[in-house]
This record gives sequence, C-alpha cells and structure tokens, in this order.
Amino acid sequence: MALYSRVSGSVGMITLQNPPVNALSAAVRQGIVDMMHRALSEPEVKSVVICGQNGKFCGGADIREFGAKMTGPPLVPMVHLIEAASKPVVAAIEGIALGGGLELALSCHYRIAHSKATLGFPEVALGLLPGAGGTQRLPRLIGVPAALDLITTGRHVTAAEARQLGIVDEVTDLNAVDAAVKFAQSVTGKSLDARRISTYPCPRPPDLDAIFERAMQQVRRSARGAIAPGTCVQAVHAAVTLPYAKGMERERELFSLLFTSGQARALQYYFFAQRAVSRWSTANGARWDTSKPRPVRKAAVIGLGTMGRGITVSLAQAGFSVVAVETQEQQLSEAKQAVSGMLERGAKRRGVPLAHDKIKYSCSVQAVADVDLVIEAVFEDMALKKTVFQQLSAICKPGVLLCTNTSGLDIDELASQTQSPELVVGMHFFAPAHVMQLLEVVYGPRSSPEVVATAMQMGKKMGKVSVAVGNCRGFVGNRMLKPYLEQAFFLLEEGATPEQVDQVLEEFGFAMGVFKVSDLSGLDVGWKVRKSDGLVSPASTGTSARIRGGSRYSPLGDLLCERGRFGQKTGRGWYQYDKPGGRVAKPDPWLHGFLEEYRAQHGLVARHIDHQEVLERCLYALINEGFQILQDGIAAGPEDIDVIYVLGYGWPRHRGGPMFYAGQVGLDKVVERLEHYQQIHPDVPGLQPCSLLRKLAASGNPAIHKWREVIQKPRSQL
Ligand code: 3HC
Ligand code: NAI
Repeated sequence: MALYSRVSGSVGMITLQNPPVNALSAAVRQGIVDMMHRALSEPEVKSVVICGQNGKFCGGADIREFGAKMTGPPLVPMVHLIEAASKPVVAAIEGIALGGGLELALSCHYRIAHSKATLGFPEVALGLLPGAGGTQRLPRLIGVPAALDLITTGRHVTAAEARQLGIVDEVTDLNAVDAAVKFAQSVTGKSLDARRISTYPCPRPPDLDAIFERAMQQVRRSARGAIAPGTCVQAVHAAVTLPYAKGMERERELFSLLFTSGQARALQYYFFAQRAVSRWSTANGARWDTSKPRPVRKAAVIGLGTMGRGITVSLAQAGFSVVAVETQEQQLSEAKQAVSGMLERGAKRRGVPLAHDKIKYSCSVQAVADVDLVIEAVFEDMALKKTVFQQLSAICKPGVLLCTNTSGLDIDELASQTQSPELVVGMHFFAPAHVMQLLEVVYGPRSSPEVVATAMQMGKKMGKVSVAVGNCRGFVGNRMLKPYLEQAFFLLEEGATPEQVDQVLEEFGFAMGVFKVSDLSGLDVGWKVRKSDGLVSPASTGTSARIRGGSRYSPLGDLLCERGRFGQKTGRGWYQYDKPGGRVAKPDPWLHGFLEEYRAQHGLVARHIDHQEVLERCLYALINEGFQILQDGIAAGPEDIDVIYVLGYGWPRHRGGPMFYAGQVGLDKVVERLEHYQQIHPDVPGLQPCSLLRKLAASGNPAIHKWREVIQKPRSQL
C-alpha cells in the first residue's frame, strides 16, 4: 500500500510500502492513486514527494502478480494522473528505481536521487519491455541511442550516470527524501509546462535509420532467439515516429505480445528460480533456515592450474585472505602472473578493488595450517586427491572445512580420507572460475549442515549463485551432460555432421553447440575419464566396438583423441582451426571423410536426420536424466537443475532451463518421444523415460511448482 503524510505543512508525502522492494502491487497502485487524489484536493498541499519505505524507492511492477488476473488500477493511467497533476511532484529515489519504479519516477516532474541509488529498465530480462510509458518517455528525455542502450540491455545505472544522462535532476549524498522535500518547496507554484516528459518532442538524430539498424543487429547477435530485446527496439522506434498517444498504444500492443509469450513466462520463472535455490535443503533434511554458516576469514587453494587461479581471484576479490599453494615451480610463477593479470583486468573493467595483498603464494601445503577453509583444485585424479586430503587432514587446524573442486569424483570417498568427514563438501566452480556465476555445492552423506551452509554462503560472498546438490557421479550438471553428449555422438554415427548438430542447438538458443563446446574444453578431458573407467578399448571393428556393458557406446571421441585431435588447443577436433589455440571453428573435410570411413567400417548406413530428431534426442535425453536426478534426490527441485543449466551450461535463459522447458513442451509429449526413440534404439538406456517423468506425465502434466509434491512422496514408490 502507500502511506500519506504531511511534511512542513505544505508537502504531501506518499510513501510506497510493500517490502522487500516496494513493488507496485495492486494495493500499492491503489494507494498511490488514492493518495495523489488526496494531495491534489488538499488546498494546503502545494507540492508532493513520492518515496519508498526502508530506503528503497521501487523495484517495479510486482512480478508475483503476473500470473494472476489483474486487479487494482492499471499502471498507465496512474502515471498519467501523476504527470498531469497541477502541483509539482518530486520523486525521492533511494536504493532502487527499476522498471515500473523508474516509470513512476519519470512521470514525476522532478527526480532527486541518492548517490548510492541504481536505476534501470530490467524488464527485458523478464521477457518484457517497460510498459508504463518507459519506452516513450525515456527517449524523449535522454535521446534515442542512450534510451535504446538502457532498454534493450536492462543494465542498471548509478545515480551519477543517471544524472549525466539527464534522467535525474539532482544527486545527493545526504538524505534524499529530505532533499526532495526541500526541492519540492523550492518549486512550489512554478509552471510545470516544461516538466511533463510526454509533451517533449522525441529527438530525431539525422542518422536515425542507421541507429535503429545497428540496434537491431546488436540485439539479434546477443539475443540468441529471445524476442524481448528486438521488441524493445520496435517500441522505442514508435516513440520517434509516432505522436505520444499513438506511441503509447504501440507500446501497449507490443507489451501484451510479450506478456503472453512463453518466453516471458520462462524468464519470470527463472527470476524466482535463481532466488529459490538459496533456500536449499538436502536429502537428509538439513535446511538453509536451520543451518548456521561458520565464519571464514582465511582460505587456501591447492593447485594453481586453470581452476585454482580463477578461484584464488574470486576469493581475494570477495575480501578473503588466500593462501595459494602450487607444488610445481614453473606453474607457481605462471600462476602468480596470471592471477595478477586477472585482478588488474577486474579492477579496470568492473571496478573491483585490486586485491594482490590478500594473496600469499607457497609451494608447500604446510602453509595452510592456519586457514579456515581449503579448496582443493589439483588434477582430476582420485589417488592424488586422496593423498592431498590425507595431508590436509593432518596439517590443518581442527574444524577446517575441506572442499574439493572435483568435476565429478566421489565426495564421500575423499571425505573418508580425513579425520572429520563431516567437514568435507564439494565446491564445484565452472571455468573460468572468476567469471562464471555458478557454484555447485556438493554434499556427501556425511557432510554436516553447517558445512553446507558455509560453502553456500562463501559462494554468495564470491558473487556466485550457489546450488546445493547431492553426491553422485558428475553431480547434477555433468551427469546430465553425459546422455546429451552421447546422443550427439550417436547422431554422427547415424549420418549427421558436427555442424548440423551444433546449428540445431544454436538455433534453439545455446551459446555454442555441443561439438564446439567440446573443442573448447578439450576432448582429452573426457577421454582421460573414459580411460580410467575402462571404456576406451584398443581399436576394433564390428558391433562389439560400439558396446560397453551391454549398452551402446560411441568410440568417436576416443578415436579423435588417438589422432591427437584435442580441439582448439591442438587446432583440430570436431572442427578445424587456423592454428593451435585458434578460436574460429571451420567445418573440416577430413572429419567428414573420417566419419564416412568409420560408418563403412562399422556397417552403418548414413541416413538423413532432421532438425526435430537432433533436438529431441539431445535435449530429451538430458531432460530424462534431470528427472532421474530429482527422483534420486540429488537435486531438491527442478529450479536447482534449471539454474545450473542456465548459469553453467549455456542453456538459453528465455527457455527457463531444461526442466521448465520439458513442462512447456508437455511431459506426456516428452515421454512419448523418448519411447519412440527407445523403440528404435533399445540399446540406449538413457532413452527409457524414468519413473518420475512417467508419473508426472500420467498425473496430467502439473505446473512445475507442483512437482515437489510428487517428488517428496517416498521415492521408492516411483
Ligand atoms: N516484484 C516482486 N518481487 C520482487 C521484485 C518485483 N519487482 N523484485 C524483487 N522481488 C523479490 C525477490 O523475489 C526476492 O524475494 P524472496 O526474498 O522471497 O526471494 C526479494 O524481492 C529480494 O530480491 P533479491 O533477492 O533479488 O534482492 P537483491 O537486493 O539482490 O536485489 C533487486 C533487489 C535489484 C530489486 C532485484 O530483486 C531485482 O532486480 N528485481 C527485479 C526488478 C525488475 O525486474 N523490475 C521490473 C519489473 S517488470 C515491470 O516493472 C513492468 C513495467 O514496466 C510495466
Ligand atoms: P590443471 O591441470 O589446470 O591444474 C591442476 C594443478 O594442480 C596443476 O598446476 C598442478 O601442478 C597442481 N597440482 C597437482 N598436484 C598438486 C599438489 N599435490 N599440490 C598442489 N598443487 C598440485 O587442472 P584444472 O583444469 O584446474 O582442474 C583442477 C580440478 O578442477 C580438477 O579436479 C578438475 O576436474 C576440476 N574442474 C576443472 C574444470 C575445467 O574446466 N578445467 C571445471 C570444473 C572443475
């Protein structure tokens, strides 16, 4: 709702009250309308200030209300009422003015912001556009290029930048509400003719067409199939080409189009999913609200290769003291240089404070004796990791958390090497660790709740989204990747090319297709794992070469590795590159010839494979594994999986994540298509729909937020 008070006799103050971000719920909108009428009708009131409770102006429309039937006064008439007021209205912006919150501020005649406030139009990230006049007012106020930038990217600006752009009139380091009251008194009685933004002509730069063409190209490049950014451009175009009232009609049409789209539903689901994962729970009943994190001041990183370097940077930037240990001298000196470079780039590009002095390097593991938490990032080798954990257990002071960055090895086996297995968890970062936002926190059967809570909180402090997952081979992300990759290999055997498979996946919205990703991360990584699993056998032909443990297996990746084709690092993989380390993937005629030869050797006849089959086999196999993970209790809910896939594996955000996507396709349809492919490929167990998926499909494809009710029933019944 909105509170009304009178300040200094002549200023009517409207205070938005809807914790935590004063979102514009039906009650808040009703309150604003009622209080505006009151302020306008009281003769003693000469001016009005609008502010938000608890130091936050307004976080925009109330997203929680989007799914329900609209009630209360709509936003557009509300902002028109404010702009048309005969008394000056001043917005006192503290904390945030986002989306509808900024539109509310733009309908006021003046805007005073606190220096720490941030402003922006983040609607695009929710699959929307600013739909309460934002696309029509902002270009009139700050010009077309700047408005396009803010509206299509959704980026937040500081109060200082907002002042520079002309969005706010004054910035203060003092109390912004007091400043707004003073300001409101100073403009009492002044003409408001030049203060109503909707009456401004929209600036028309001479190169207008080129500006819009560039904006469209830019959003096409970065949107990966998301429709909101392009629609935002169209709405701003309307501001330039149409009179205000017509422009508003166009904004409404475009907003409705987006509002009812599946993409907006997916993005809004994702918004809440990303917040829901912090309310974690584990299979044995530990929970976020009953587990207290331990204090951590000083941390250690063991192994300064690709991952250890990024983790060191992340820790130092988050303010932790770090002991960075690397046993190989050459690696240590290279790591020092690399870490310094990353810190300097972070400071230059993102304004992160330089944190060189937070890091102490050592070539001896003894240096970790006084730390509170250790993150091990040595080679992915169980025997080596076991030795390191035994050493750590002997050297560290009692009560120290021992964490591993393993990509998929058994946490419990590592924990069993220590004196306190309850202090062991996985902290699975993603490469590059100082950039990627995802952290899988992997709890073993013996990890204590407070250790999980500490790792989750550490991730948050490092600016990551932490997701708690159970211990199994590959955890959540890499476990689901296996059937996805497997299908991609089988498709090559059956007649597809890497380019074809990648194109389908990229059109779906993945940043990169599966084969390009494989070339980027290195084919040798998976090869080593398959070798240690005993899957890689000496070259042989015939059906047995493609069977392991009774199931279909494709040795294609192994064969490429045997020929030294490790991907980008060797200049050859599923594609060719101009040199080792090259980045631009080009189709490789050698690979096509090799595939033909391989098929001939193994008695396979290439067939035409269409877009639908590529997509369904790759994605539904991955999704099926996701349901198996839920069934096994490795992830607590579908949101956990979706956040992992969007933040760690390039799943397009506007499709919500694999589990949300499955719900949108229809779980019964996913089951039907999996069964169809399973009949054709009975030797691929990953295509057999799992019981949870079947059960949910049979119970009428319930909405995703209802899945937990089914999942929480005793798993043995599934
Ligand atoms: N509506 C409803 N709930 C909201 C909300 C909103 N606009 N914005 C935030 N919340 C909720 C969050 O879901 C979270 O709830 P929880 O505690 O139950 O999980 C709580 O507020 C706190 O949010 P965060 O955890 O994200 O807190 P932060 O301090 O990290 O961030 C924020 C605050 C920057 C405001 C961030 O929440 C945010 O970006 N919110 C979305 C803002 C937005 O997109 N506004 C545009 C809405 S669409 C619109 O206005 C349409 C209009 O043009 C017509
Ligand atoms: P890497 O090979 O780049 O680096 C490993 C480093 O550990 C080397 O510098 C090595 O000298 C050092 N080392 C080995 N034994 C040591 C010891 N006893 N004490 C101190 N240092 C020692 O490996 P990378 O890629 O950084 O991987 C590390 C871990 O992170 C692995 O478990 C891997 O599975 C995991 N991981 C890797 C990802 C990636 O994309 N590279 C992503 C996520 C996890």
